[in-house]
Amino acid sequence: MKYKTVLFDLDGTLTRSEAGITRSALYAAERMGYTGLTERDFLPFIGPPLHDSFKRMLGMDDDQAQRATELYRERFSRVGWAENEVYTGIPALLRSLKKNGVRVAISTAKPQVFAERIAARFGMAPYLDAIIGPPEGERHASKADIVRRALAQLGGPAVMVGDRCYDVEGGAANGIDTIGVAYGYGTREELERSGATAIADTVDALGDLLLGDSPRSRGVFLSMEGMDGCGKTTQREALVRHLEQQGWAVQVTREPGGDEIAEKIRALILDPANTQMADVTEAYLYAASRAQNVRTRIRPALERGMAVVCDRFVDSSAAYQGGGRRLGMERVLALNAAAVDGEVPDVTVYLRMTPEAALARRLNASEPDRLEREQADFYQRTFEAYEALYAGEAGTRVAAVDAAQPIEDVTRDMLAAVDARLCALAAAVKR
Ligand code: TYD
Repeated sequence: MKYKTVLFDLDGTLTRSEAGITRSALYAAERMGYTGLTERDFLPFIGPPLHDSFKRMLGMDDDQAQRATELYRERFSRVGWAENEVYTGIPALLRSLKKNGVRVAISTAKPQVFAERIAARFGMAPYLDAIIGPPEGERHASKADIVRRALAQLGGPAVMVGDRCYDVEGGAANGIDTIGVAYGYGTREELERSGATAIADTVDALGDLLLGDSPRSRGVFLSMEGMDGCGKTTQREALVRHLEQQGWAVQVTREPGGDEIAEKIRALILDPANTQMADVTEAYLYAASRAQNVRTRIRPALERGMAVVCDRFVDSSAAYQGGGRRLGMERVLALNAAAVDGEVPDVTVYLRMTPEAALARRLNASEPDRLEREQADFYQRTFEAYEALYAGEAGTRVAAVDAAQPIEDVTRDMLAAVDARLCALAAAVKR
């Protein structure tokens, strides 16, 4: 590894932050009496110190620029900071850097408190050795100052990564190499002109420059479990959106099913004509589908550093076949061992709902008929198996969420639990 320290600019390098920045700058300008402007006019505000931008772009004097910066920060601190998303591939890159023992920091012209809040909210904080920006109250630090502070703290050999000429110049002023990223808010020409040591057009290319052929970190494996009717599909969509906002490339898959072969096995299992299927045959078919899904979908995606979201995994077999069909959880887990081949989810979202509540949801609150009543015992056993399986798992891989709440509350609790778990995992990435 050429560099032992990597300093990242934040906006336009780690995060796509235009909405929060341009809306806050427009807000400040309008309150200062400037009219006829749109959000787009403020795109050049991304990167350089705000104070300078207000002066240069709108012709303000120092006092006006100071007032505009205060107005900007007032809106930004309320809502703007969260109008943000991490570029796809960044978590995988940060994990790989950490795995290889590289010190990683954010060095930004944004006030340090905001950079800290953004890093925490978007899941980057646990990978970072330092977050360095101007302390609150400091009027306008230059990028060179910020880089100097970061280097004093972290040492070298270091490289500064950023999307604007300010980042390149700030790195060069401290005598270190610089990588310009052309996927942000500067152009390739701007970065070349300012003398960047190298230029990366994509996050992948940046990873190649920083990591060379050093080993990459694996991605994260999330599974979702719960009774039929627990709202899994809706919550899965919210989870995938959330992970994407944190910069994960997400592979979504479901069980039974996954690739073409696994989907054929799914059709065989769920075919209503197969009334004579023995319970143990069914258990093996779920395991067969899983064996295929692990090898063609789940593991390859994890090896590429992606987040895999699997709608049901081996715990469904433990609950439905082990409990519901009375094959026994131990036995079902044993016959799944070769299928799973050591792939254990890092996080399992358990959408906890009693069979009665789940049934009421499925039937849209109408009274169950005779057949459904017979099924009630099956679902009761399935539920009890889930509960037994996850008893004592709280605080480990299992994020249990009360799924009987209103949808938004379930989502909020689920995302908080998932974030806490991902944070713990990130902190534990082995050097
Ligand atoms: P799923 O597609 O998740 O259905 P839904 O979206 O309605 O929840 O699962 C289909 C059914 O398969 C569901 O009733 C649970 C069952 N199942 C098992 O019995 N064992 C298993 O191992 C898996 C993965 C699913």
